Amino acid sequence: MKFLAIFGNPISHSKSPRMHNNAIKSLGLDAIYTRYLLNDEKLLKEKLLSLKLSGANITVPFKNEALKIADFKDDMAVKIGSANTLIIGENGKISAYNTDAPGFLQSISTFKNIKKALILGAGGTSKALAFALLDKGVEVFVANRSKERLKEFSFCQNSLYSDLNEKKFDIVINSTSVGLKDDTLPCDEALLKELLRESKYAFDVIYGKETPFIKLCKNFNLQYKDGLEMLLWQGVFAFELFFNIKNKQELIKKYMLEALNL
Ligand code: ATR
Repeated sequence: MKFLAIFGNPISHSKSPRMHNNAIKSLGLDAIYTRYLLNDEKLLKEKLLSLKLSGANITVPFKNEALKIADFKDDMAVKIGSANTLIIGENGKISAYNTDAPGFLQSISTFKNIKKALILGAGGTSKALAFALLDKGVEVFVANRSKERLKEFSFCQNSLYSDLNEKKFDIVINSTSVGLKDDTLPCDEALLKELLRESKYAFDVIYGKETPFIKLCKNFNLQYKDGLEMLLWQGVFAFELFFNIKNKQELIKKYMLEALNL
């Protein structure tokens, strides 16, 4: 039997155990996926090994540490600087992957011909999305309200919202959690309206709530999507790594979605 878990802090809200356990049950696999509230990042490796896990998902705030403790690091995870999926071999060796980046790309695969993307926000999520898009040959701009975190985005074009000269992008992406708990937009409304008027697509990483960003998108002639598909696809890609399964993506996704609606 395989033991799997998600580590984070907080962790009680995580939908991953439901998603993975439903896919495990529906596919008749011998495994169980649980959650672990970790208080100290220094204990991550020790816990993974002492709990005899064969795989784990890692969420905020331990994704950077997850990459650091790995013996093998997937190229994309190294570029992004964080991992959300770990595979633990029988010899105790840890392999690190980032399935947020491919999960995001898969979720926007219905958006065709994206050449230029604007990402709002400069946190960890923004970095994963930026590298995913760069990897596909997309020209990436990152904009943020303050300078400090933009320092980590020298690999792409970046600026403060107030200094954003370019206004025409194929897609505008909200990578911040702004709008999850409050009713605010990630940047000035007039600027966002100008950006959305010019754009073909919009994407918000938040799911499960119609954010002010998504509400605003409805006033413009563009296709938009929230973060639900990205949540599902990062889960599907992690599941494939846990069980070394190929060619069952749509089925796994279906079972994971079913779990969210149960
Ligand atoms: P994550 O790992 O989920 O990306 P994060 O690393 O905490 O989260 O990044 C949060 C991002 O949201 C940052 O770009 C932050 O902007 P600052 O660097 O200026 O702090 C942005 N953010 C948070 N609250 C915001 C708000 N009220 N308005 C605009 N941007 C906000």
